[in-house]
Amino acid sequence: MNYKKRHFGSYGGRYIPEVLYPAFEELEEAYFRLKDDPDFIAELIYLQKHYIGRPTPLYFAENLTSDLGGAKLYFKMEGLAHTGAHKINNAVGQALLAKKMGKKRLIAETGAGQHGLATAAAAAKMGLECDVFMGEVDMARQHPNVLGMGVFGARVIPVTDGSRTLTDAVNAALKNWTERVSDTHYLLGSALGPHPYPAMVRDFQSVIGEEVKKDILEIEGRLPDKLIACVGGGSNSIGLFNTFLNDDVELIGVEAGGEGPDTQKHAIRMSGNGRIGIVQAYKSYFLQDDNGSLKTTHSISAGLDYAGIGPELAHLADEGRIKFTHAIDSEVLDAVKMTARREGILPALESAHALAEAFKQAPKLSGDSIIVVNISGRGDKDLFITGPYFDGKNWKAFLQNEIKRLSGETS
Ligand SMILES: Cc1ncc(COP(=O)(O)O)c(C=O)c1O
Repeated sequence: MNYKKRHFGSYGGRYIPEVLYPAFEELEEAYFRLKDDPDFIAELIYLQKHYIGRPTPLYFAENLTSDLGGAKLYFKMEGLAHTGAHKINNAVGQALLAKKMGKKRLIAETGAGQHGLATAAAAAKMGLECDVFMGEVDMARQHPNVLGMGVFGARVIPVTDGSRTLTDAVNAALKNWTERVSDTHYLLGSALGPHPYPAMVRDFQSVIGEEVKKDILEIEGRLPDKLIACVGGGSNSIGLFNTFLNDDVELIGVEAGGEGPDTQKHAIRMSGNGRIGIVQAYKSYFLQDDNGSLKTTHSISAGLDYAGIGPELAHLADEGRIKFTHAIDSEVLDAVKMTARREGILPALESAHALAEAFKQAPKLSGDSIIVVNISGRGDKDLFITGPYFDGKNWKAFLQNEIKRLSGETS
């Protein structure tokens, strides 16, 4: 893709207010110049290695493979990256770009808080001011990350519009950018939004798939049969898939099935639910009502609770290159539990959608098949959601005790 090509098939594009034209022109020019600049690449590789902790391992999940009795399961361990998820790959890339462009301030939207946390960390490291927009609902359910962003020196700005989740946070960040363009870079966290974000975020995340390819060829001597990743906006999935697009490897994206496809409480945009539209300045599939307004979405995982999907994924789905499916909340919790018990790995709720699908598929395949699942993040951030499920009574008692302790009633 060169920088004149702003679409993926008929999707993508750049439907922005006039006030943002200069900012997008500047960003497009800077990105497509610097992405091939040897000094920029060297700096990014240094940060990937020494700050993010790359490469992340490709781990053979031996116990689960044996339990399920089918395909070999490998996990790409993005949860071991600095700040706990793949989001840091893009945050560091764009923060470095912003610094080179002479920007002084980063703004970001966040759902699960992982992108906000990653952006806040990158801003602290690079000496940039940072404001993160987050829906009130997400702030309540992902408080550990809200705390973390504050500790890194970012301001977390509550968004009270709409469903008060990620969709509204994107709107708020875009609006804020129009008010302060000159010294600010909008560090968008997924492979969506107006051009050049989908291409730029994909490029910064493609390190995931590149490492998987190298490692699996070394370990198994061949490419995997299937790659499985969860899909919110689409950055960890396209980051894993990009390098394999021209290979004979099945690509599977797993959306948030929430309480089930028939309940209206989900975020299944593909499989016939979403409608093509132009929303938030790009063309893709969105969950919309008859008037074209975005529907309220639901997922146990804040990071998949979004009404749109990246335009490249929409295009690849239409082409039949990526298959989409979903996992419902209860399957996701079971997948977290199974992975924790059998491998000693606590995946993020988002990533557990991909695991749930892998656990359905593995037993149907022969023992010489290979599935790679992207564990996009670790589950520490979800303890306030998973705590009651894993350890109901004790968890509640712990929280009650903590409140008493903090209010000075016990020592
Ligand atoms: C751990 C984790 N995985 C996946 C996602 C979904 O985002 P994307 O589809 O852009 O990878 C998020 C979003 O916050 C996340 O925190």
